[in-house]
Amino acid sequence: MPALAVVGTQWGDEGKGKMIDYLAKQADVVVRAAGGNNAGHTVVMGGKKYALKLIPSGVLNPQALNIIGNGVVFDVKGFFDEVDHLKADGLPMDKIYVSDRAHLVLPYHKVLDGLYEAARGAEDIGTTKKGIGPAYMDKVERSGLRVCDMKNPDRFAEKLGAQIDRKNEQIVKLFGGEPLDKEAVIAEYVELAKRLEPYIADTGVIVYGVIKAGKKVLFEGAQGTMLDIDLGTYPFVTSSHPTSGGFTSGAGVGSNVISQVLGIVKAYTTRVGKGPFVTELFDATGERIREVGHEYGTVTGRARRCGWLDAVVLKYAARVNGLTGIALMLLDVLSEFETLKICYAYDHNGKIIENFPADLDLVAECKPVYKELKGWQCDISGCRSYDDLPEEAKNYIKEIETLTGVPVKSISVGPDRDQTMIRQEIF
Ligand code: GDP
Ligand code: IMO
Ligand code: MG
Repeated sequence: MPALAVVGTQWGDEGKGKMIDYLAKQADVVVRAAGGNNAGHTVVMGGKKYALKLIPSGVLNPQALNIIGNGVVFDVKGFFDEVDHLKADGLPMDKIYVSDRAHLVLPYHKVLDGLYEAARGAEDIGTTKKGIGPAYMDKVERSGLRVCDMKNPDRFAEKLGAQIDRKNEQIVKLFGGEPLDKEAVIAEYVELAKRLEPYIADTGVIVYGVIKAGKKVLFEGAQGTMLDIDLGTYPFVTSSHPTSGGFTSGAGVGSNVISQVLGIVKAYTTRVGKGPFVTELFDATGERIREVGHEYGTVTGRARRCGWLDAVVLKYAARVNGLTGIALMLLDVLSEFETLKICYAYDHNGKIIENFPADLDLVAECKPVYKELKGWQCDISGCRSYDDLPEEAKNYIKEIETLTGVPVKSISVGPDRDQTMIRQEIF
């Protein structure tokens, strides 16, 4: 089976967008299966930057069909903002379909995201406030509205109205907030529903058909393993399954269609939002990584927290996703450091821990155990093959392979498409 899943191995922003765009050249279909427009995937093409949120990063490749699967929470307004921006850049938007089973993110979800966060006070999660958590809450509670509901305007207006009444009650009575203008929201969303009509499809049928025809399918991960609702650093996670297990249920096909799982690994670690981060740096080195790597969020503009590479996290990601390869990203960002550190275990009050623990209070007390490696201290952004890399960079790569047991199949040394070295065939 020819499907490849591309998954974030850390806390998101590993460079998934760049690799998806690169690999989409060979793909017939690119599928997003989880999350929503909390994702921010940057693709640089011909020096121009594209920030993709809900629309798959395959969209910059004219031949690929792009699918937004049933596992995604779909913000129709955000979708059309993105469509309009991309159209203005001259990109065709005629090869995108959204699943009729995808749940909708509606205005009250965004309002509630902000109110829930405020109510948590110092214990807030640091969400993107895009309404993702509240939309998945409704899905699990079995009160959500889906894309297929938009196909019947009268029924849709009725269902939406009932939900707005319910949510306004919460907004006003629980939080003392401003209620939504029910009629205005209904009018706006009935119009959006009409505009969405040509994009709606039973996308599982399309993906299955493409796979049966022996064509190539790429599953585009959003977020990262440590943000998974089950497997991540709960409660500092998103509300979906960004790990490989979530890809097939979120696309409406069986799990045996995926033959390869490529883990996207940033050469160091970053995280936005709250939650423990064992290798976080609070010194000049952390600052320097942030500046050189331009580590500021695509969606919210927040400064990302930065630290050394954490191989305890990578080993965990290799196991829970079944990684068959690694794409190592942003290696160029480490070029100026004399010494590089990779954390291979945690020290908890003298006890060595090798498997990422569930208990975050315990994680917060862990100290990183580092292996130190010599840095290369030269510009590698012009390297185009593995052999061009300095020995120290090759050693850094080998160390990652040894610690994870997974081959590093590609190395990225800059944001542009051509700053990519392929060591082993990926797709
Ligand atoms: P995603 O969410 O995983 O798609 O990652 P983001 O797009 O949020 O963040 C990755 C950032 O790194 C983007 O600004 C990319 O343009 C940039 N980038 C990707 N690969 C490389 C690389 O190898 N080197 C450098 N310097 N930047 C890169
Ligand atoms: P990409 O696809 C990094 C984080 C948020 C917050 C937590 C919960 O660009 O890698 P949410 O709004 O999802 O309820 O927020 O998850 N988060 C991300 N961090 N990259 C992302 O996506 C993220 N999507 C969500 O910062 O800590
Ligand atoms: Mg991102």
